[in-house]
Amino acid sequence: MPEPLEPDAMAVLARWVREAGGAGLPLPSTMSFATTGPDGPHARTVLVTTIDADAVLFHSSTPTGKTVDLDADPRAAGVFHWPALGRQAVLTGRAVRLDAAVSRAAFPTRPRQLQLVAWAYEELLPGVSEPAYGVAPGAVEAAFDAAAAREGSAAAPPSWTTIAFTPHRLDFWQAGTEATPPTKQRYDRTDRTPTGWTSTPVLP
Ligand SMILES: Cc1cc2nc3c(=O)[nH]c(=O)nc-3n(C[C@H](O)[C@H](O)[C@H](O)COP(=O)(O)O)c2cc1C
Repeated sequence: MPEPLEPDAMAVLARWVREAGGAGLPLPSTMSFATTGPDGPHARTVLVTTIDADAVLFHSSTPTGKTVDLDADPRAAGVFHWPALGRQAVLTGRAVRLDAAVSRAAFPTRPRQLQLVAWAYEELLPGVSEPAYGVAPGAVEAAFDAAAAREGSAAAPPSWTTIAFTPHRLDFWQAGTEATPPTKQRYDRTDRTPTGWTSTPVLP
């Protein structure tokens, strides 16, 4: 039987990420993240660092594909999938960049390798352009090594940003068994319930 889910969708999502981590799954907060570009949808993987009552947060450099898309159109979608647990969460909503102070505060908590990647982006971004973002062979490695050798790379570069993705809909899918079908519980944001969500089963 699928487990019953609590009435607050963000609480379910936070718990599922926690349980994926507790089960030892690699990168339990990995989310596929799709944005809307002028030529159609664009998708990539990101690592969610925070799930609060309203939004999931992750970090990125700007301007890159996702931030260029979001600046023009905040509509976005995200998918978490934990195959070993037979669980999927699908998010639909809007994503915006947060104030620079939030990013500055979060930067020291990020692994050193990702800090150096952010500094490599800081150096390389002025020389690349969308949509291809082409770089010379070895350029990323050289910029990464230069950042590692430089003082001050533990502070956030100006191009590093935090994105808050606020879903207005969350679908929680649970696998079935040989004897039972999969299930999907759909949550929609509302101001008519104490939790701020309504929920109903939908076709899985
Ligand atoms: C497991 C994994 C985690 C990633 N986490 C992030 C992330 O948190 N933020 C980010 O900007 N890119 C992350 N990336 C890289 C993105 O998938 C993507 O290549 C990059 O952000 C540029 O995408 P864009 O030009 O479409 O914005 C990650 C990639 C993988 C495979």
